[in-house]
Amino acid sequence: MASRKIGLWLVGAHGGVATTVAVGLSALRQGLIKPTGLVSETPAFADLPFAGWERWVLGGHEIRQTTAVASAHDLARTSRAFSEQLVDKCRPDLEQLDSRVRPGVVRNVGNTIRKLMSPGFAREAGSARELITLLQADWDEFVAQQELEQVVVVNLASTEPPVAKESLPRDVESLLSSLETTECPLPASSLYAIAAIERGHPFVNFTPSLGSDLPAIDELARQRGSAHVGRDGKTGETFLKSVLAPAFAARNLEVMSWVGHNIFGNLDGVVLNDPVNKATKVASKDKLLGEILGYAPQTLVSIEYIQSLGDWKTAWDHIHFRGFLETPMMMQFTWQGCDSILAAPLVLDLARFAELAARRGASGTLDFLASFFKSPQGSPTHHFFEQFAQLQRWAAELRTNG
Ligand SMILES: NC(=O)c1ccc[n+]([C@@H]2O[C@H](COP(=O)([O-])OP(=O)(O)OC[C@H]3O[C@@H](n4cnc5c(N)ncnc54)[C@H](O)[C@@H]3O)[C@@H](O)[C@H]2O)c1
Repeated sequence: MASRKIGLWLVGAHGGVATTVAVGLSALRQGLIKPTGLVSETPAFADLPFAGWERWVLGGHEIRQTTAVASAHDLARTSRAFSEQLVDKCRPDLEQLDSRVRPGVVRNVGNTIRKLMSPGFAREAGSARELITLLQADWDEFVAQQELEQVVVVNLASTEPPVAKESLPRDVESLLSSLETTECPLPASSLYAIAAIERGHPFVNFTPSLGSDLPAIDELARQRGSAHVGRDGKTGETFLKSVLAPAFAARNLEVMSWVGHNIFGNLDGVVLNDPVNKATKVASKDKLLGEILGYAPQTLVSIEYIQSLGDWKTAWDHIHFRGFLETPMMMQFTWQGCDSILAAPLVLDLARFAELAARRGASGTLDFLASFFKSPQGSPTHHFFEQFAQLQRWAAELRTNG
């Protein structure tokens, strides 16, 4: 019997990262590009029984009424992330995605995200439970129409403001009862997570928003036998921090301060320009140094929106450290990356790893995927190569035990 198709559901389906995922998947399927940037295609993992690219079908939730073709042309024209010729070759697949985009939910996302909404293009009314039921109905329809074996849900929506921890349900019982109310404090990202977990669809949170990062939601996932992971894809400056900081620690060089200034100009930048939404991202980018070094150097992370840069992020990091005889020294680096191009292959990798793990019966937090995240759920370490070794151990175990 031929292998059945697998759904990849993109929350934030017309954003920069999701659009690049759609273009990239189509180009991979057509054999138009090399798999550069894809971890699952490296010799360390390529022999694992991942679902082939030809089996993946896209759908998604959005709150802005546009099209994947328009978003892709915009990324090509404004940011030169890829060529317009490539977009034309992927057009049929992008149009297929558009036919499967449904209005998302915007509960507790804050004013800046609400301002992005096209009138009437989001589900707002009712209790959290009613919103979850609508999301699940969208996925049930997707599964039935496409005859899918599985759906992996990936959150690629705009970064929500932080949520006050004290207000959140502490166990599954209070979580489920709070969903019945309109006052439920959980943001949209967590409603997507709960909806996916209840349906047995693996949930991946690529954003710094809360998503499934709550003990009560993890407990729910274990009870239902569902897999989930997050939070905030580790693609650029923070990836380098998690590679370099362990080197300073290993050589007993004392980091006195680490300053990182980030400037970029895409839609994510518009949302992060709101200090409330920015606070979620800064916390995610800032917390790993203390854990890796074992002490807390003075740190500063800034994120500024500079429209002319489009999807190109420049990060300038200044590291002031001290060596033998207390002599101070400095390291500086400049990272200039195209945000969506860095993120999209990791999203495709995460979908593949999560689907394979779920197929092999994994449930709860997929902690072996820590190397993909700035704030990895369920992982004790931020050290990139320790996290990568964790991924390699998981692969070795899978080869041994099947
Ligand atoms: N390198 C990277 O690009 C990178 C790295 C780590 C994390 N992230 C995170 O990934 C997310 C996506 O990044 P992006 O550059 O594509 O941003 P983007 O602003 O281009 O796209 C976000 C999309 O989500 C939509 N959206 C917002 N709220 C929604 C909701 N409640 N339901 C459905 N759709 C919703 C928006 O309309 C928009 O189209 C952001 O949260 C970003 O912080 C990106």
